[in-house]
Amino acid sequence: MEEKLIQEINEKTPILDLVSEFVSLSKRGKNYMGLCPFHQEKTPSFSVSPEKNIAKCMSCGEGGTPINFYRKIKNISFEEAAQELAQRAGIQIKQVNVKKEPFEKEFKLMEEVTNFYQFNLKHSEKGHDVLDYLVKREVNDKLIDHFRLGYAPPFGNTLYQLLKDKGYETTDMIKLGVVKQSDDGSYYDLFSDRLIFPITNPKGNVVGFSGRTLNKNENAKYINSPESVIFKKGSLLYHLFEASSAIRKSKQAILYEGFFDVISSFGAGIENGIASMGTALTKDHAKLIKNMTSSLVIAYDGDSAGLKASEQAISILEKEGLKIEVLTIPEKMDPDDFIKAYGPEQYENLFAEFLKDPYQFRYAYYKMGKNLQNANDIQAFKLNVMKMIEYADISIRAIYIKKLADDLGIPIEELSQTKTKPQPKPLPKSDRKMMIDRHTRAEYYLIFAMLRDKKHAKTIQKQLKRTDFADHVASSIRSKIVDYYDDHEFLVLEDFLDTLPQEERAFLEDIILNDWFWKIKVEMQDIEILDYAKLVKEASLKRRLQYLNEKIKLSGDHPKEKDLNERDQVIKDLKHKPREV
Ligand code: CTP
Ligand code: MN
Repeated sequence: MEEKLIQEINEKTPILDLVSEFVSLSKRGKNYMGLCPFHQEKTPSFSVSPEKNIAKCMSCGEGGTPINFYRKIKNISFEEAAQELAQRAGIQIKQVNVKKEPFEKEFKLMEEVTNFYQFNLKHSEKGHDVLDYLVKREVNDKLIDHFRLGYAPPFGNTLYQLLKDKGYETTDMIKLGVVKQSDDGSYYDLFSDRLIFPITNPKGNVVGFSGRTLNKNENAKYINSPESVIFKKGSLLYHLFEASSAIRKSKQAILYEGFFDVISSFGAGIENGIASMGTALTKDHAKLIKNMTSSLVIAYDGDSAGLKASEQAISILEKEGLKIEVLTIPEKMDPDDFIKAYGPEQYENLFAEFLKDPYQFRYAYYKMGKNLQNANDIQAFKLNVMKMIEYADISIRAIYIKKLADDLGIPIEELSQTKTKPQPKPLPKSDRKMMIDRHTRAEYYLIFAMLRDKKHAKTIQKQLKRTDFADHVASSIRSKIVDYYDDHEFLVLEDFLDTLPQEERAFLEDIILNDWFWKIKVEMQDIEILDYAKLVKEASLKRRLQYLNEKIKLSGDHPKEKDLNERDQVIKDLKHKPREV
């Protein structure tokens, strides 16, 4: 989006009206003050200046221009915020800038289904039994409405009939998994006689459902919507959208295993809970969380499956650079059981008493149930702990080496000498810059070009695989730029930087954006880009050749056919350097 347009949108959006939608303000001299919506506070430090048309928190610094305020408070991208505000202000944006919601039709159908289930919970005879069940589990009306809980009636095809009457296409119902076709060709509802949990995407659209049976003899406790164009469990978190404002305020999210844990906690006043819906935590989940907060508490069940899942979640979350704490629920309960048994206050106390850092948690977990007189147990315990601290900070290593030595009853030197990989020391910045060779430089320029223009990004994506980049950080950024352009026409640098983990962000800010080339904003020609791409490709092929040569040499008299063939191909490719499209 052009600078001029952004300015116009900001100018035509009165900050006072905008902020008033979210914060209650009172006048103080020329300005208005209110409680900051971006952090928790008791005395107002959020200041709105109608004169300068900006709003900023004097305490935490969040806020800014109308677009910046809006994107932060709605947790949307810069571009989306600008577009929504432009629309409100009646500013025409060129057609290419207006992003069409791609799944409007699908969302509408799912919304209809959600309403149907909600209606059936409150207004059907069978639904009343389910309400009784919810009352027993202390899920009150407020919670039922907040979580949009529903009931799927048991008659086979009520939902199908309703959707058909309303003119929805059967193919869409099937595609989204709410209706299925039986062998005789007739259609039936996927969910029957189940309590329904609608699942939203991060923008709040219902994209799938989970249904819990209330029948003890039924063996599938939960069934879920099948994966669809809009429902991908590996990249959705239950209640993330609904919790986003609480997460922003408390600057923290709480990750649970089950729907009922999220709901009970919400009832107990802890509103920033989310859940991963019975699947192992994925990198995509971690990224979703990272987009909203940098701090997370894992509050999985206290049984052995929950502990194991916590350990696995830590390693995924750690890689995204999140600050993690683990809440261990005593007596093998889940958070829901605990709240029922001891009440909301005791539950809040748990956060003070039972919160462990990820090292404390894992150390205790690895030690649990081990007999430290048994050689196998000693071996396993030691291996786990050494692996845990392999890349840890030096002071953390020292603490756990000492703990381990104490627990094993051996002198600490025995362990300190155990070889673990030394941490690679980062080069001082100035050295890093000096060492840049021709190929690396070419990689950086290509990244510049991709940041500048979607067209360049497409060309480079076509010319080079991600593995062609030698610098792993540059390579990862390359993929992320490509992903970004999947749903953006223009790359807003500030917006894009926000999506990156610390290491990649620092890389861009430190090396690339400091470069004169970026600063003077030289436009890049297509031909130049092809040249740079060729250079990078050539370096990549040379690396591959070196690797294959080594591999073939090591295999002595029996080199693999496959490797020999690939080597021939690489040599050929190197000779025919011009690999234009
Ligand atoms: N889950 C699932 N399929 C199952 C069992 C569980 O998808 N057959 C998912 C659900 O998202 C569930 C979560 O795993 O919320 C945790 O499972 P569990 O602890 O058994 O469920 P709770 O939500 O605690 O339900 P309840 O308290 O009613 O037993
Ligand atoms: Mn439970």
